[in-house]
Amino acid sequence: MTDLQLCKTALHAMTHAYNPYSNFSVGAALLCKNGSVYEGCNIENASYTPTVCAERVAFFKAVSEGNLEFKKIAIAGGSKGESLKICPPCGVCRQVMSEFCKKDFEILLVTDTGFEKYTLEQLLPLSFNLLEVKSDAHD
Ligand code: THU
Repeated sequence: MTDLQLCKTALHAMTHAYNPYSNFSVGAALLCKNGSVYEGCNIENASYTPTVCAERVAFFKAVSEGNLEFKKIAIAGGSKGESLKICPPCGVCRQVMSEFCKKDFEILLVTDTGFEKYTLEQLLPLSFNLLEVKSDAHD
């Protein structure tokens, strides 16, 4: 699966967004180390708080099926009829990524003309990870 194919998968996932409140669609395609790809879209709710981002839907689908090793994620987001600008993941999704991914996990942000590539370390420096904090204490 090339980076471009993963970006196209994120664009496909975006078409499934359930977004009657924001009308903002987000799609994510998560590539696991074993080659599996999980798609996610944002799923909103009348009560707002239960809304889940596309990225977390993709991660939780993977984890719930026993896939815990990840290579990269492509994310596409925008409103209908508007040009596609990068849609950087929210803080909560970055924290979820940091639970399951190493610093070099790649995050591809889709645009009209291609994609921008970042590492998790770039988007969430100095992150909090209790498992690492605890294991450092025993070094
Ligand atoms: N959203 C995502 O799916 N991912 C993000 O990282 C940021 C925001 C969704 C949530 C909501 O349905 C809509 O975008 C507008 O905030």
